[in-house]
Amino acid sequence: MKIPDIIIAIDGYSSTGKSSLAKKIARKFDFLYLDSGALYRGVTLFAQEEGLISRLNTVNPALKEALGGLELHFGAEGKLYMGPRCIEQQIRSLEVSGQVSPIAAVPYVREWVDEMLHAFGRAGRIVMDGRDIGTAVFPEAQLKIFMTASEQVRAQRRYDEMVAKGETPLLEEVVKNLRERDYIDSHRETAPLRRAEDAFELDNSDMTFEEELAWVQGLIQGKFGIL
Ligand code: CDP
Repeated sequence: MKIPDIIIAIDGYSSTGKSSLAKKIARKFDFLYLDSGALYRGVTLFAQEEGLISRLNTVNPALKEALGGLELHFGAEGKLYMGPRCIEQQIRSLEVSGQVSPIAAVPYVREWVDEMLHAFGRAGRIVMDGRDIGTAVFPEAQLKIFMTASEQVRAQRRYDEMVAKGETPLLEEVVKNLRERDYIDSHRETAPLRRAEDAFELDNSDMTFEEELAWVQGLIQGKFGIL
């Protein structure tokens, strides 16, 4: 199945499986996958290392200027790099997860990330996941999906993912983090998380991965009249 050079935007709550679905779509249809959340996580790690965010999540305004010296890029297998250093594992830690939403609520941080996202988007044939891709970054995206799943399913998925990586999180810490991020992400002033009016909603609480992919494939076939 060959689909046109479109932008596919996948938004939704924490740990709904956005990136797994986006990667699968990218592989199947030969699209470029871009994880916008990784960039917010990269900025968060940077702010932590530079001492520009306090324990109570107060962001030092000096971050704005410091961002001029930050270089983030995606390297082999889509892993995130800060200059020469691969930071993929660090950005997925609970420490970064615990401060990423306050950082992502800062307007100049969003501008900094958006600039990178738009540069990628110009190439077309891209699937991007995040919180505001279909509403703010690419409102013109030709296909928008908004993902949800029950809190229990989401927390268990994230917990299993972390355990598989050899970490030892507490399930209640994972749940707390998901709740906090969903709240901050949906209530911030700049580009809050919400479903775009023209987005198709996918609740995958009780779906297998194959069912999910078949759902997306059906959507694409219907929308673009491809057999
Ligand atoms: O953990 P999960 O994969 O669900 O989140 P993520 O996609 O890695 O995003 C981490 C955080 O970055 C979110 O909780 C948001 O605060 C922020 N984010 C955002 O504000 N806008 C985006 N387009 C993507 C992520």
